[in-house]
Amino acid sequence: MKKPVILTGDRATGPLHLGHYAGTLKNRVALQRTHDQHLLIADMQALTDHADRTGQVRDAVLEIALDYLAVGIDPDRTVICLQSGLPALAELSMLYLNLVTVSRLERIPTIREEIASRGFGRAVPAGFLSYPVAQAADITAFRAELVPVGADQAPLIEITNEIVRRVNALAGEPVLPEARALIPEAGRLPAASGRGKMSKSAGTALPLSARPEEIAAFVRSMYTDPGHLRVEDPGQVEGNVVFAYLDAFDPDRVEVAELKARYRAGGLGDGAIKRRLDALLQELIRPIRERRVTFSQDPAQVLELVRRGTERARDRTRETRDLVFRALGVGAT
Ligand code: TRP
Repeated sequence: MKKPVILTGDRATGPLHLGHYAGTLKNRVALQRTHDQHLLIADMQALTDHADRTGQVRDAVLEIALDYLAVGIDPDRTVICLQSGLPALAELSMLYLNLVTVSRLERIPTIREEIASRGFGRAVPAGFLSYPVAQAADITAFRAELVPVGADQAPLIEITNEIVRRVNALAGEPVLPEARALIPEAGRLPAASGRGKMSKSAGTALPLSARPEEIAAFVRSMYTDPGHLRVEDPGQVEGNVVFAYLDAFDPDRVEVAELKARYRAGGLGDGAIKRRLDALLQELIRPIRERRVTFSQDPAQVLELVRRGTERARDRTRETRDLVFRALGVGAT
């Protein structure tokens, strides 16, 4: 039986972090056994708001590939590829741009919010405004059926499917499959401060290469319950960052439930729950960090893996490009 096709990707702006691990990397390691999985390192998408930082984007390609390998992505099971090495994505983007209006793009929540929060206004780079179209090209070029992404990306899968339906209607036949977003049940990890989510741009990320001291300091700095002054006092579990992380990472649900009950009743200190979380995160990150160090000793080999994956992806995406262009009567093929 043919395995269902997955395509997902990461903007190449810097190394991935613990939030990515909880939200998607862990899932991808599991999914590679049962799915035909492709991971796209999106360097062209990164340029839509990093056009003056090509060096940073270039460096991030290796960092992300290292993160993939370190968490257990197996290049024999998952195709790791680079967006800029796949011309069919650009060709499909050019075509799709004619099927979408500027006002539709401006209505996409993440686009609208980012234009506001960065103060772009009308000076928004055209590439930035239209990256959802390029992302639709990414997804459809692989003829992906399943797209594991964070909840914020769901509207981008919606617009992808609008494009798919437009293409199929124009072609008069189902050329492209619709894609389904696979969204993790747990929301994103909070920042240690409890204000906002873990994010690299906000400077609140714990990298997957974090040293033991860095992990310990991160856990120590976590916001708990400011009203929980003495161990005997009843404490709040809601909004308590330590418990949010225990919920995300502690496999012993029963014990976590007991800890919450004791914390609420009073008699369980912040020190105790932080020690538990620290031990857990140290155990989780140590093997990732060690594998990352090993792979980083031979960057040429890692980039060669990306090159080979990109070559494989080139065939698949070119095939889709030809299929779509032919079905719509575009070009000479
Ligand atoms: N926009 C995604 C992000 O910011 C990254 C991405 C690029 C992507 N191309 C993709 C995700 C295709 C899913 C499918 O995280």
